[in-house]
Amino acid sequence: MEQIIMYPGEVGKDAVDWKTTQGQHITAVQRNILVLGSGGREHALAWKLAQSEGAKVFIAPGNAGTAEVGTNVNLKVGDFEGIKKFCLNNEIGLVVVGPEQPLVDGIVDFFKAEPQLQKVRIIGPDKRGAQLEGSKAFAKVFMEQHGIPTARCLTVNQASLSEGVAFLKTLKAPYVLKADGLAAGKGVLILEDLEEAITELGNMLGGKFGNASATVVIEEFLKGIECSVFVLTDGEHYLLLPEAKDYKRIGDGDKGLNTGGMGAVSPVPFCTPEFLQKVEERIVKPTLAGLKKENIDYKGFIFLGLMNCGGDPYVIEYNVRMGDPETEAVMTRIEGDFADMLYACADGALDQVHYAKSEKTAVTVMLVSGGYPEAYEKGKVMTGLNQLKDCVAFHAGTAFNAEGAVVTAGGRVVAVTAQGDSIMEAREKAYKNVANIKFEGVNHRSDIGLDLLLTPNS
Ligand code: AMP
Ligand code: GLY
Repeated sequence: MEQIIMYPGEVGKDAVDWKTTQGQHITAVQRNILVLGSGGREHALAWKLAQSEGAKVFIAPGNAGTAEVGTNVNLKVGDFEGIKKFCLNNEIGLVVVGPEQPLVDGIVDFFKAEPQLQKVRIIGPDKRGAQLEGSKAFAKVFMEQHGIPTARCLTVNQASLSEGVAFLKTLKAPYVLKADGLAAGKGVLILEDLEEAITELGNMLGGKFGNASATVVIEEFLKGIECSVFVLTDGEHYLLLPEAKDYKRIGDGDKGLNTGGMGAVSPVPFCTPEFLQKVEERIVKPTLAGLKKENIDYKGFIFLGLMNCGGDPYVIEYNVRMGDPETEAVMTRIEGDFADMLYACADGALDQVHYAKSEKTAVTVMLVSGGYPEAYEKGKVMTGLNQLKDCVAFHAGTAFNAEGAVVTAGGRVVAVTAQGDSIMEAREKAYKNVANIKFEGVNHRSDIGLDLLLTPNS
């Protein structure tokens, strides 16, 4: 007989339920969900959650796009007390944390310690678990201890600078230097020249990235192709979400400065079933076993930044959240009730939800402000957003001006995602729509997905 699971007695008067594997409904209830963040990732999460049965989505602080799928709330992601009050006043049953900073700052610990918040589920690791992203040195020790394939490394600080220099001399160019702490995505240097690497190591330890680089991880360079694999875990079970490839450089052909991400493709042709099997066996399972062994209670997303080296996966980095702009592609390929998945995740019952990946290919193209990733202007009026067809425009950095028009409010402005039966078809649809969105200085890459047409299995 079909098992029916009920979760009565939630915050406030509404019961909060999710469906059985067979998809049978239990009760039509309202599920109030708060998404924290304001970028394209959060718009994509909120967009997907808003499609769930009974979901009422709030986004703090959100942007002009999230206002279309839910209610924006004027709260900063670091304002834990304000978030607490909002949750209690609005009968929030689930909080989804978009960016890493509040997780590293302990928002999950805060929720767990507050007697009034005991019934509010929260997706994300506690402070200790968030160290997988918050400290690269911690992540490397974790991987070494749990036998997870990663680049050889040495962690140094000012006192062990000379050992660092000696280690650099044993490596071949290029040299990889990573600030231990969060450095707004800028803390990794890849250098061709040994002398330059030695100088930069000194600079980093001397405060080039502030306190974040008081400790530096020196790493062997891994040659291969990168991809992002996303795991949702309740600590016991896990789901492998659709994988993606992102495009970090500002210019076509991967030229120019690093950005937050200029586009994404999902699925990734070189992530074959055999490769993903290796990822599960060599990385996902040992990672979850390691977390358990270290008594880290982890209910949330794990983003594996991987290098595919000749068919073998190596971890470049762990993130404790979803990727941006990968989420804008990935969310369009998740089939099933996403709120069900997240409620079940928080309840340790991920094995009981319906989940499938769409066979379609999603291509995401990011439109950015002129000048980004260096200085850029904000407040440019955007047009064409209401003329889009067969795509979703996830807002990354937008706001309303005094007249109520949508204006640019960030470097990355809007991510256009389209689906197709092939990369080419999805690309064509995405770019047709990209051409319709206009604002002064608009820039985007024209080659998202093209490289994948040349790799095997595409
Ligand atoms: P991370 O912040 O650790 O993801 O590093 C930023 C980028 O640097 C990655 O996306 C890679 O492109 C590159 N990178 C980091 N570590 C390595 C490595 N060991 N070998 C090659 N490339 C790396
Ligand atoms: N797209 C890479 C990241 O979110 O860190």
